[in-house]
Amino acid sequence: MRLILLTLAFVGAASGYSHFISYHIDSPDVQNRVATIQDDLLEKDALFEKYFEKLTSLHVSVDYLDLNETTIEAAKTALIEAGKKLSSSSVTLRGFGSLAGYLYVNAFSDDNPLLLIKNKESVKATFQTFGIQTSWWWPYVPHMTVANVNGPDQLQLEYKWFNLLFDPRKMGSFEIKSIRLCAWNIPEGDEDYPILAEAFLSL
Ligand SMILES: *[C@@H]1O[C@H](CO)[C@@H](O)[C@H](O)[C@H]1NC(C)=O
Repeated sequence: MRLILLTLAFVGAASGYSHFISYHIDSPDVQNRVATIQDDLLEKDALFEKYFEKLTSLHVSVDYLDLNETTIEAAKTALIEAGKKLSSSSVTLRGFGSLAGYLYVNAFSDDNPLLLIKNKESVKATFQTFGIQTSWWWPYVPHMTVANVNGPDQLQLEYKWFNLLFDPRKMGSFEIKSIRLCAWNIPEGDEDYPILAEAFLSL
């Protein structure tokens, strides 16, 4: 039952929303480690290629939301306000997970086990004061997606990463420096999600 709920929350969280709020990961160390994992997967099955998260787009999502032309400006302002209230932290990435077509690495604050959840609740509350409802994603599972194999190849690809679930490899860490509001659709030829607004945290 718990797995079913988690799965629904995950799928509901990621699909059907036009935008997301996230911590961008620009650590070359994390990028290199993810590249190694992706190369290993690619060796198992060439079909993986089109499902990989780009190394330049690695992030930990904070929340998801649906915006239209009317609400987009308010969302940019809300993000800047939300950024003022957030706590910075170094975040460790370790432990692979797999759910509903997502292969991800769990993310943990090094400073306080509840920090990422508190930040998420704070962002949600700030957006609410601007009249913008974010996702119903619950429970919040902070993670960095490595690949999303949702689609026709899901069954074929999913079991090929199952041995990663027992892989103790460390995936590095990064510092939360900012929070971003991004659109899901990466334009053809671009390397990263379009950034609508970014708020830098005072360190
Ligand atoms: C945009 O979204 C808001 C909030 O969901 C809604 O009230 C509004 O009618 C939408 N506007 C358009 C132009 O779709």
